[in-house]
Parts: sequence; structure tokens; C-alpha cells
Amino acid sequence: MKKQHIGFDLEIYEGIEELSSTDRGLLEKAIEVRENAYAPYSNFQVGAAVLMENGEVVIGNNQENASYPSGLCAERVAVFQAGALYPGVAILAIAISAASNKHVVDVPAGPCGNCRQAIMEYEIKQRSPISLLLQGQEGPVYKCSSLKDILPLGFGNSFLGDS
Ligand code: THU
Repeated sequence: MKKQHIGFDLEIYEGIEELSSTDRGLLEKAIEVRENAYAPYSNFQVGAAVLMENGEVVIGNNQENASYPSGLCAERVAVFQAGALYPGVAILAIAISAASNKHVVDVPAGPCGNCRQAIMEYEIKQRSPISLLLQGQEGPVYKCSSLKDILPLGFGNSFLGDS
């Protein structure tokens, strides 16, 4: 038996002001579009802004449903829209902003497992990393340089033997 440590470097910024102007602009967009989340059941609003290699920014926010599993997270609304609008254009970064009507979210909320898997598909497809910027409604900003950092031992198409 041998042990292998799997870890990654997380960048932690005290606030949005500490970010580069590109990162700050993207996170500001995520905060802005969080306002349009449709989250009457959870009262938890998430905004996502996707920066494409062609400079376009594609947005998403969570869209809930009375039949709970029929709703979709902000991250998947955004990346699926990016894939639909700009097929073949790489995603450079995704900013995610989360807030609640029930309490103050002061710790960045990482994407759920399904969203990690969905974003991973694009990282594999484009063969280049997608960085993530995460923030609650206040507090620090976390930056990860690649989706695979937060989805270790992930499942991808290589297991299917088709690539
Ligand atoms: N949600 C997201 O939009 N992104 C995540 O990564 C986690 C959760 C949404 C789904 C649901 O509308 C609400 O937050 C509560 O789970």
C-alpha cells in the first residue's frame, strides 16, 4: 500500500477589491445576475457568470421548480447556455455568487457535485483549465485555478474508451 496526497492551492482574497479587474468584473456580473434567481422554495439565490475565450460573458442563476428536482443550479444554467451559444469556444473562468434570505452567507459556496461534474465535461472537452471565483454575499473570495482541483478522481469520457 502506498499513500498519495491529493491537494490544491486555493487563493483566498479578503474581498472583491483585491481581485484583478477581469476577475472583479466577472464576480460583479455574478452578483448582479444573482438578483434574478428564481428561488422561492430555498430562498437561496445563486448567480454565475462565465467568461469565454472570445471575451463574451454568459450568465445563469438558479431556477427552481415546485417539483424540486426539476430545477437547475445557476452554474449549469450558465455553462449549458455557454455551450449552446458558443460551441467550440473555451470557457476561461466562472464566477459564482451565493446569498440567502434566511441568513448571511459569508463563506463562499462551492458548486454542488452535479455542477462540478457538468463543468468538468467542458474542461475535458476544451483541454484547458476553467478557473473558479466563489463568494457568498459577503466575506472572502476563493479562487481555484482548475475545476479538476475540486473534483479529484472525477469521472470523464476516458473511462468510456471512446477518446
Ligand atoms: N444551487 C445552485 O444554484 N448552485 C449550487 O452549486 C448549489 C445550489 C441552488 C439550487 C437550489 O435552487 C438552491 O441553490 C438551494 O439548493
